Amino acid sequence: MKKLLHIDSSPRKSSTTRQLSGRYAERWKRAHPTGTVVYRDLAVDPPPHLSEAQVDHFCYEPGSHAHDKPAEVVFSERLIDEVRSADQLLLAAPMHNFAPPSTVKAWLDHIVWAGHTYDPVARRGLVDTPAVVVLSRGGSYRPGSPREDFDFQERYLRKILEFIGIVAIEFVVVELTMVNTTGPDTALRELAERSLEDAFTRIDELSPQPPGNGVTR
Ligand SMILES: Cc1cc2nc3c(=O)[nH]c(=O)nc-3n(C[C@H](O)[C@H](O)[C@H](O)COP(=O)(O)O)c2cc1C
Repeated sequence: MKKLLHIDSSPRKSSTTRQLSGRYAERWKRAHPTGTVVYRDLAVDPPPHLSEAQVDHFCYEPGSHAHDKPAEVVFSERLIDEVRSADQLLLAAPMHNFAPPSTVKAWLDHIVWAGHTYDPVARRGLVDTPAVVVLSRGGSYRPGSPREDFDFQERYLRKILEFIGIVAIEFVVVELTMVNTTGPDTALRELAERSLEDAFTRIDELSPQPPGNGVTR
């Protein structure tokens, strides 16, 4: 049975990233009627920051609590299992202060552990789940733009996901969402509108086709 791990992180209920990830998940469900969607809303249910027991367990005294695992270690293991056992990861995140929201960082801190999601000796990741990562930001950080160097959202997520083995990543990025839609700068408004339209088109291209409608991905 196919499994989609769908993660939202925007604090806004009608957010851009939620609309795009929701559309992908809908289409995925239609293509995999018997499949399972595991859903995590990091804004509603944020993962706690790491505790000493977790860091000791995973880093300093690996396995020392094997028979008496603290609840937070069990929680990390659940998150690791979710991402490793999924056939597809769908991660949606707005830009907050040039980076993903801290809830996404907290989720990553739970899943990036030696021996579980990467092998520090062989220096390779252990997760091979393909990912669609939906991002949005109020400004523009495209190559050549004045703020290019401030993008610690897409660049960081690409690197950390690749580090744990998730190398098949499709990014869908909406830019300029904070552009004043009634403002006088028509050129900028058009760029913003096109960025959103392109993202919806890309979601439709990336999401699997329903059964009987050609190839399923
Ligand atoms: C706390 C906060 C910080 C933000 N920081 C940035 C930023 O550094 N750069 C940027 O371009 N937009 C920034 N924005 C704007 C959001 O990235 C933008 O509105 C995005 O489209 C929100 O996505 P969502 O609708 O999925 O929440 C910020 C918004 C908030 C609420």
